[in-house]
Amino acid sequence: MNKCKILPNNLSGVLTVPGDKSISQRVTLLCGIAKGRSHIKGFLNGEDAKSTLLAMKSLGVKFEFLSDTELFIDGISGNFIQPNNKLDLGNSGTGTRLLAGLLSGLGINVEIIGDKSLSSRPMNRIKIPLEKMGAKICLSGENNTLPMKISSSRLEGITYEMPVASAQVKSALLFAGLYAKGSTTIIEPSFTRDHTEKLFELFNIPLNIDHYKISLDGFGALGPKIKSQNINIPGDFSSAAFWIVAVAGKTGLKVEIKDVGLNPKRIALLEVLKRMGAKIKIKYQNKNYDPIGTVFVEGSKLRGTVISGDEIPNLIDELPIIAVAGAIASGKTIIRDAEELRFKESDRIAVMATHLKSFGVKVIENNDGMEIDGSNKLISPKKELDSYGDHRIAMSLAILNSYGSDEITISNVKCVDTSYPEFWKHFKLLGGIIK
Ligand code: S3P
Repeated sequence: MNKCKILPNNLSGVLTVPGDKSISQRVTLLCGIAKGRSHIKGFLNGEDAKSTLLAMKSLGVKFEFLSDTELFIDGISGNFIQPNNKLDLGNSGTGTRLLAGLLSGLGINVEIIGDKSLSSRPMNRIKIPLEKMGAKICLSGENNTLPMKISSSRLEGITYEMPVASAQVKSALLFAGLYAKGSTTIIEPSFTRDHTEKLFELFNIPLNIDHYKISLDGFGALGPKIKSQNINIPGDFSSAAFWIVAVAGKTGLKVEIKDVGLNPKRIALLEVLKRMGAKIKIKYQNKNYDPIGTVFVEGSKLRGTVISGDEIPNLIDELPIIAVAGAIASGKTIIRDAEELRFKESDRIAVMATHLKSFGVKVIENNDGMEIDGSNKLISPKKELDSYGDHRIAMSLAILNSYGSDEITISNVKCVDTSYPEFWKHFKLLGGIIK
């Protein structure tokens, strides 16, 4: 079923969300590089994590699932094989960019392809710095997009000042840096999620971090000698975000989300919602390689706020659902400095602005964001709402309509499986009605 009819809903309850997508993909790469069998729990059973895992399989890495979310990965300690197929990364920007970094210095020839959405996303942002390191990369899509051919070459470390704040670019260079001669230094324009750095630490790969500057001593063409690990992956905060907003704006509702990852560079949504008047509490558990805990939300009335500057990279994936919060808040919510949103799985500025307008919300679309005039009466539109193949748009629409007036139909919802296959099941569990 690629369409979904849903009614306005009051959502409440207790939930555990699936494993973090960013961490699952990084863990796949690191366990593949390591020597021996790693044991992973809490792995995301979504399409993006699977396509990254299958790409590593084509390079010789073996894995065995014990359940949907628990697996062994048998690392090959640098003995990568030349794949005889193209690596199909499906919808996964993270998988593509991080793998491109890793593959650049392995001395093999590979081609990466992806679906329509991934094939429209910018890849020059990794090609340019990787080529400075000596990588040989050819992008044969129309605008420096996939398909991407990577040919065998040897890398040398560079110092690179990143023009955009992107954890994917940073991580691509860190993975490339592992197989380079000499040191690689990356300077970020502002802080982005640091899962790669945290996981390098877990695998005992030394990094030197000084504010926005991260340096890594390369291990040359043979790569690092790292040992397999047992890893627990926390719930994905970006998946939890949908339920947090579903409840935050309606008095009388409550939700509790357990075992969720609370990396400080991922949870700026909580600060934004608190500014908007939301009632949110966090209870931290024992520290993993990343903080983890329970998020409690109690519904209340929200008011508009401004989201801009350095806050943006720390809530980049939550901006569609923040736009939903803005739509139901009193007053104006302004999102600025977020032009990166135009290069995600869809142009999330244009798509969210269009959808909010179809609910009767006044929105001004700007190049780098939008201004939303909140409304206390959302009119659910009769026409079908397209997700444009973007998982976070499909899920944001479902939550938007929990504040709506009538049934809506969302089309193109299969994409939800990339990051949150149980989304509709959890929606029902919390009291949502799907027709
Ligand atoms: C991700 C980083 C972000 C984010 C994406 C996942 C990652 O992209 O939007 O969903 O896992 O590193 P950018 O770093 O390119 O902004």
